Amino acid sequence: MEARGELRIGFVGAGHMAQGVAQGAVRAGKVKAANVLASAPSDRNLGAFKKLGCKTTHCNSEVLQHCTVVFLATKPYQLPDVLREISPAITRDHVIVSLAAGVTLQILEELLPAGTKVLRVMPNLPCVVQEGAVVFARGSCAGEQEAALLKSLLSSCGLCEETPESYIDIHTGLSGSGVAYVYLFAEALADGAVKMGMPSALANRIAAQTLL
Ligand SMILES: NC(=O)c1ccc[n+]([C@@H]2O[C@H](COP(=O)([O-])OP(=O)(O)OC[C@H]3O[C@@H](n4cnc5c(N)ncnc54)[C@H](OP(=O)(O)O)[C@@H]3O)[C@@H](O)[C@H]2O)c1
Repeated sequence: MEARGELRIGFVGAGHMAQGVAQGAVRAGKVKAANVLASAPSDRNLGAFKKLGCKTTHCNSEVLQHCTVVFLATKPYQLPDVLREISPAITRDHVIVSLAAGVTLQILEELLPAGTKVLRVMPNLPCVVQEGAVVFARGSCAGEQEAALLKSLLSSCGLCEETPESYIDIHTGLSGSGVAYVYLFAEALADGAVKMGMPSALANRIAAQTLL
């Protein structure tokens, strides 16, 4: 797909989170858009990748053939089937990064070929506009080099910290659910302004801007 030695990033699953990570990495200049390849069964989400200048396919294994760093970005329940499908194409050179909520490193390592370098990432929704908070933990075969590479890539989506895996569920409560409390707070601010006589649409816009 590209000259040897250049970083090539793949996404198996091309929805919200895959698009957020790809946009962040491309816009920050961490990877060339032409060196990004995303796969999904339908064209529903692939158009967003094409618009960014990335390559797309309907074949998951093709992503493994062309990319060394591969993000797994399907829904968690779809992941076991996807891992079974792509496992024959995984080599010791690949760095596999799972975005799937609730799928532990132990499960990932059991489903992947022995020796696979795997990392588990927990993003939050604001990653899709590169204002997220991300934590990640590495599996037993992923080293400093893989952690540094992942941190460099994900820093383009917002704050990014490596943590013990046990912090991942805490992070989900803090920054995943935390976003919802901020929405409630913004709504309460806007309601106050509406009670004072401001039109609702304007009050909501100002409340949102106040919290940025
Ligand atoms: N969204 C969040 O705020 C958030 C936060 C934390 C973690 N996560 C994690 O991020 C992951 C992705 O979430 P999302 O919100 O981005 O989901 P999403 O928008 O629903 O995207 C899922 C993607 O997976 C694709 N897909 C389905 N079956 C597939 C298969 N067999 N092979 C390859 N691709 C397949 C879908 O294809 P089509 O395009 O054809 O439908 C779609 O592109 C999840 O595991 C979730 O737990 C999400």
